[in-house]
Amino acid sequence: KKIIFSGAQPSGKLTLGNYLGALKNWVALQEDYHCYYCIVDLHAITVPQEAKNLRKNSLEALAQYIACGLDPQKSTIFIQSHVSAHTELSWVLSSMTYMGELNRMTQFKEKSQKSEANLNAALFTYPVLMAADILLYQTDLVPVGEDQKQHLELARNLAQRFNNRYSDTFKVPEPYIPKVGARIMSLQEPSKKMSKSDENVNGYIGLVEDSDSIARKVKRCVTDSLGIVKYSDEQPGIKNLINIYSKLSGKSVAEIENMYEGKGYGTFKNDAAEVVVEGLRPIKEKYEALLSNKDYLETIYATGAEKAENVARKTLRKVYKKVGFIPRK
Ligand code: AQP
Repeated sequence: KKIIFSGAQPSGKLTLGNYLGALKNWVALQEDYHCYYCIVDLHAITVPQEAKNLRKNSLEALAQYIACGLDPQKSTIFIQSHVSAHTELSWVLSSMTYMGELNRMTQFKEKSQKSEANLNAALFTYPVLMAADILLYQTDLVPVGEDQKQHLELARNLAQRFNNRYSDTFKVPEPYIPKVGARIMSLQEPSKKMSKSDENVNGYIGLVEDSDSIARKVKRCVTDSLGIVKYSDEQPGIKNLINIYSKLSGKSVAEIENMYEGKGYGTFKNDAAEVVVEGLRPIKEKYEALLSNKDYLETIYATGAEKAENVARKTLRKVYKKVGFIPRK
């Protein structure tokens, strides 16, 4: 089976965007691939996190992974900081990464412009850690959104650079673009993506958020003054809502446009709110049951870490040997 690696940061509550853009696909991929799904807490600290929140978000993310349908019997599900090989390989790879390569990363440029005060070295070297995540497992395919393509390109370059400088060590990973990609936008500013760390909580929908709150956010989402339910770039708010509606209900965009022809945004938004609430309800119910069983969650992440560690160590041992570190015996 081919190998897949992917992860999400516990930098907040997982959103509907994370679900439709990533988790939903991850679930489907489990059938045909050997998947590693990680909760990337090391990445999350590149922006300030409160310890107590980080702990909570990490455990909740795990419960949400499982509630969405990730299966610990099929996939290796683990927490990044439990497998120290990630940071260790990252160090070696950073010695082979040029400053210029990192300077060109658009995500760093964007994030650094947002908050000068929080600029730290880890935010800059984030893509190197991501390369380590991927390369440790001899990953064939990485499901990535548009925004992560540049980072994956660096992982590929580093794999090739290492293989050329020493000898064949890493599989060179390919991007995996899901057939039905979904970029979910903020409900308040539909020009930017829905993001869990958005300061405006009305911009995102949490995967396990309270139903009333979900409905309220959908009904208040920013639209336009045209008053027609049409999938068009000129109506980014409506387009986004149609997308969400379609992905959660299974109805096509055309069907939805037809259903709401001649009807106002009020009806459309009310129905959309119900589709979202009902679509997420089963996940939320499963999630709540899981959270009340912490022992089970602990077993999952402990087993996952052990499985991941075995594979990661093997790669790291090879790397250390090739760069000239003396084995400890
Ligand atoms: N709005 C989105 N639409 C579609 N896919 C999305 N993803 C995130 N937001 C959307 C996908 O979810 C996966 C996990 O992402 P992540 O948590 O590692 O980081 P991110 O992409 O930076 O997500 P956020 O929510 O925006 O987090 P913050 O606010 O902390 O930066 C990825 O596959 C991503 O493409």
